[in-house]
Amino acid sequence: MASIEEYVEGRTPASAEEILKLRELVADWQLLSDLSFADLILWVPLRKDDASWPSGYIAVAHIRPTTAATVFSHDVIGDEIQWGERFYIDQALSNAEIVRDTEPQLVGEVMVKEETIPVTMGEKVIAVISRHRNAELMRQPSRLELNYREIAHELYRMVAEGNFPYNNAGTLFDPTPRVGDGLVRLDVNGTVSYASPNARSAFSRMGWTNELEGYSLGEIAEKVSREKNDASEEALVTSLSGRALRRVEIENLGGVIDLIVLPIIAGPNRVGAIILMNNVTELRRRERQLVTKDATIREIHHRVKNNLQTVSALLRLQARRIDDPSASQALNEAVRRIASIALVHETLSSSADSSVAFDDVLDRLVAHALELTPRMSELKISRNGTVGLLESRIATPLALVITELIYNALEHGLESEGSKLDINIERRDKKVLVTITDDGVGLPAGFTLAESSNLGLQIVRTLTENELRGSLTLISNEVETRAELEFPAQ
Ligand SMILES: Nc1ncnc2c1ncn2[C@@H]1O[C@H](COP(=O)(O)OP(=O)(O)OP(=O)(O)O)[C@@H](O)[C@H]1O
Ligand SMILES: [Mg+2]
Repeated sequence: MASIEEYVEGRTPASAEEILKLRELVADWQLLSDLSFADLILWVPLRKDDASWPSGYIAVAHIRPTTAATVFSHDVIGDEIQWGERFYIDQALSNAEIVRDTEPQLVGEVMVKEETIPVTMGEKVIAVISRHRNAELMRQPSRLELNYREIAHELYRMVAEGNFPYNNAGTLFDPTPRVGDGLVRLDVNGTVSYASPNARSAFSRMGWTNELEGYSLGEIAEKVSREKNDASEEALVTSLSGRALRRVEIENLGGVIDLIVLPIIAGPNRVGAIILMNNVTELRRRERQLVTKDATIREIHHRVKNNLQTVSALLRLQARRIDDPSASQALNEAVRRIASIALVHETLSSSADSSVAFDDVLDRLVAHALELTPRMSELKISRNGTVGLLESRIATPLALVITELIYNALEHGLESEGSKLDINIERRDKKVLVTITDDGVGLPAGFTLAESSNLGLQIVRTLTENELRGSLTLISNEVETRAELEFPAQ
């Protein structure tokens, strides 16, 4: 759908502020349409270059009521009319006054009553709303319908006087509450003069068993809502008095209601207010659940990390007590492997996301590996490229694979003087390529990855194929030994 700007582009002298005002009106006008059970069309005057009077209008927006059937089955946006063609629209524009219910006219198959409302900004009429209601409706209106229509008239007068849409409403109307979810009308003192059935049920769920009408809504709200000791918060009696535009929530064990307070202005005076409400109990409950879930997940990661540390401490103790050196070494390697897993969990537990900033983990893995290397000071280590964020599902196996490869380079690769270890990472097209290079003795003659039966590379192979769904190659030449690992980032 084209925007208001696009329809009037270069054809109207309307300023950017005026267009903005119209956009704000259109953002909030479902309320007007629903309260008056009518279709609304917004007409912006078009002017010839030098003429001060419009040559015609273009329809830039249309809204259908959710409280009644629409009277237009066709699309009216983009329609243009000439000056003089629709008298009531011209009249609203030139007199800056509302033209009340006109004689019903046949539109398609229904008799329609029209009303036109000037849209005023400052002292200037910048557009006209035409309001179209089925004339057959409401020959004997209910109390609800009467109240809706009266409120609608008050709001239309505010539009004509430049008081609706509200100035500085900001995001107060987001999301816009719907009339049907509950509406209360207040007199100028903040006493309820009408409450829709849904508004009454909302308050009865909060434990208010009386009528609403005749009581101060603010006082009712204070009575039913949970004790709040926060002195900085405005008292409900004040915010629900209807004196100013407000959005507040009241809460107790029965639920949470979201209320928006719209003061009604007539000329220089405030004459009352309407309050639209929405039961947001379910919404808030789910939001809270999500927050607790996040916290629980973080707590679980934290505990897993602690448990891993306990396990590795136990194994270390046991390794010290064993006399057989090969058995004790095996235990020490298990300690080392568990430590790598714990590192990933530590990172996971410090963030709520399901992804891990893997470069951090990698730094710590390398530091950890070096701590256990006796000739660390003679090593030249370089690291290039970054991994970025990785799903936690692949972060753990990747950490293990890289640990094993680094250990192999340190353990078997670095025999000669001035050895170097390069870790290179490339991330391209959703693939991650990790290369770990050493300039050591090289792989033993006749070495093949598939036939290597030692535990380290077996772990690497299994995790690469099953968890990372990637591939690994080990190559050795006269100068260096290189392990190349490639896997999809997702
Ligand atoms: N970077 C390397 N340079 C030279 N030889 C290597 C390198 N990486 C692996 N190897 C050879 O491959 C063999 C198998 O490695 P693997 O990691 O599976 O076992 P390991 O390191 O001997 O023992 P561990 O189970 O403790 O890791 C090693 O014994 C070594 O001979
Ligand atoms: Mg090894």
